[in-house]
Amino acid sequence: METVVSGIRSTGKLHLGNYYGAIKNFVKMQNEYNCYFFIADLHSLTTHPTPENLHENVKHVVVEYLAAGIDPEKATIYVQSDVTEVIELYLYLNMNAYLGELERATSFKDKVRANPDNVNAGLLTYPVLMAADILLHKATKVPVGKDQEQHLEMTRTFGNRFNRMYKHDYFPEAHAFTYGDNLVKIPGLDGKGKMGKSEGDANCIYLSDKPEAIRKKVMRAVTDSGPTQENQLKPVEIQNLFDLMKVVSSADTLAHFDELYNKCQIRYGDFKKQLAEDMVIATEPVRSRIEEIAADKQYIQKVVKMGAEKARESARKTITDVREIIGFKKF
Ligand code: TRP
Repeated sequence: METVVSGIRSTGKLHLGNYYGAIKNFVKMQNEYNCYFFIADLHSLTTHPTPENLHENVKHVVVEYLAAGIDPEKATIYVQSDVTEVIELYLYLNMNAYLGELERATSFKDKVRANPDNVNAGLLTYPVLMAADILLHKATKVPVGKDQEQHLEMTRTFGNRFNRMYKHDYFPEAHAFTYGDNLVKIPGLDGKGKMGKSEGDANCIYLSDKPEAIRKKVMRAVTDSGPTQENQLKPVEIQNLFDLMKVVSSADTLAHFDELYNKCQIRYGDFKKQLAEDMVIATEPVRSRIEEIAADKQYIQKVVKMGAEKARESARKTITDVREIIGFKKF
């Protein structure tokens, strides 16, 4: 059976981008593959969370994974820092990851631009840690959003380089996976790029947001003054809202507003109201389970412990092999 690995950085509550870009696929994949879904708390250290925030954020993701329908009996759910083998693999892979290629990564360049005074080495080698996460379980499928494509390409590069260097066909190639044809792109509400926590709360719809909060945020989403020519191209901020509607609303609803836009008859107020209601409906099942699961401390403990054990079993096997391949020997 093929192995699947994916993780979400624990930097706060999960939003629609995480849900449609990743978790929805996780829930489906758990029935078909050998799945490892982890909480990337080591990755979250690049932005220096406080000790209190670190733990809270991990808890949010565990709870929201479970609320979204990941079943700990089917998939392995674990906290990245519980499986310290990944840190060892990260070190080995770092020896064959080159400064030039790391500096060229789009995500790195974006982060440097956004936070020029926090360009730490962990940020630079973020893709190496991500490769270690994936290679640790020798995964071949990685359900992630479009923004992670480049990181996966780097993962293949690092794995293949290791194989070539040690003349061992050890690590398989991992590829992005989604059930549709395209990797979904979930834009934010600020009229710019993707939905993301770093772009601010107003830009994100969180899975735990109450219906009132969802309505407020959507109604405030950036729009323009409306189309002036029939069938004109939609500007980015409008296209973004249509993209969101595409994931939460029915095809009929989408076609209806598209037609109104093309005829220059769209009223953004109505459009947003519909979008907000459909978002409320789409997120309701997850929202209602979040509070329930968050209150069950024992259950969370059990899930995390079981996951760590299963993940470490697979990780230890890889690390034992890798140490042997590299040439470490006992005296
Ligand atoms: N980089 C991913 C993100 O920002 C999170 C991540 C870390 C990940 N390690 C991974 C995703 C391994 C898939 C596989 O969304």
